[in-house]
Amino acid sequence: MCGELFSLEGKVALVTGGGRGLGRGMALALAAAGADVAVAARTRTQLEEAATEIGRLGRRALPVVADVRDPGSVSAMVRAVVGGLGGLDVLVNAAGVNRRIPSLEVTPESWDEIVDTNLKGTFFASQAAARVMRERGGGKIINIASLASEIGLPRRVPYTAAKAGVLGLTRALAVEWAPYNIQVNAIGPGYFRTEMTEPLFRDPEWVKRLLSRIPAGRVGVPEDLAGAAIFLASRASDYITGQIIYVDGGFLAGWPDRPRAG
Ligand SMILES: NC(=O)c1ccc[n+]([C@@H]2O[C@H](COP(=O)([O-])OP(=O)(O)OC[C@H]3O[C@@H](n4cnc5c(N)ncnc54)[C@H](OP(=O)(O)O)[C@@H]3O)[C@@H](O)[C@H]2O)c1
Repeated sequence: MCGELFSLEGKVALVTGGGRGLGRGMALALAAAGADVAVAARTRTQLEEAATEIGRLGRRALPVVADVRDPGSVSAMVRAVVGGLGGLDVLVNAAGVNRRIPSLEVTPESWDEIVDTNLKGTFFASQAAARVMRERGGGKIINIASLASEIGLPRRVPYTAAKAGVLGLTRALAVEWAPYNIQVNAIGPGYFRTEMTEPLFRDPEWVKRLLSRIPAGRVGVPEDLAGAAIFLASRASDYITGQIIYVDGGFLAGWPDRPRAG
């Protein structure tokens, strides 16, 4: 009963941003739970590596080069998945970029790059996927939000605005697409060391301050997202929609009484 509830056997998943970092981690988790998985991003070599790892888990894998800022590229991505793997049941919107720029120096170009990738990309990928899911009688959309969906991050204002937007979009789409049996939820990762956050992690003082602020006393690793991703992709979450699950070691719950640095 328990295994069946969380099984993704016979399902097709697409993970944008699946070439590396948190997206690749979630793609592998969905494959381990039984799904065939397509991974999409702009860097073919990373997609091919991810596809090889999915294949090693005994699942079909499809690397798809796509730029989520471009709705035409997003439609082609979804068509490639349906053509290559025979359908689409689960979409994880993990493609994202972040840049630390003082707000007085944000240009229209940097605003567009960050907001278009994180927010516009999430919307149009969801729209293209939902058109397929509606025909199939349902599906699961999992958006990747952030602590920035809840709290303001200085010098990352376009990112904060976009990730707060992801939260609003998650709730509104959940309501609109509930009649199609499409559940739309989000995962909000705390701090994870990936290419996106690598520059921060090179500063030992910053790492010390960060660790003293996380009740769990450590940063996340991609495997920490596996449980939430499988849960929200599976039948186990069929009556849950419009929700966000924070996977943050307790960051948003409050300040540690006694910091557990180390
Ligand atoms: N790391 C953290 O602590 C953290 C915390 C909260 C939320 N997040 C979110 O988690 C998600 C994954 O981030 P990460 O930390 O794993 O970062 P990452 O290692 O930099 O991965 C980002 C992924 O997004 C893809 N991507 C970027 N722009 C794209 C575009 N225009 N079209 C298609 N794909 C694109 C990248 O591939 P290409 O560059 O090859 O296109 C890459 O596969 C993001 O949404 C991020 O905001 C991360």
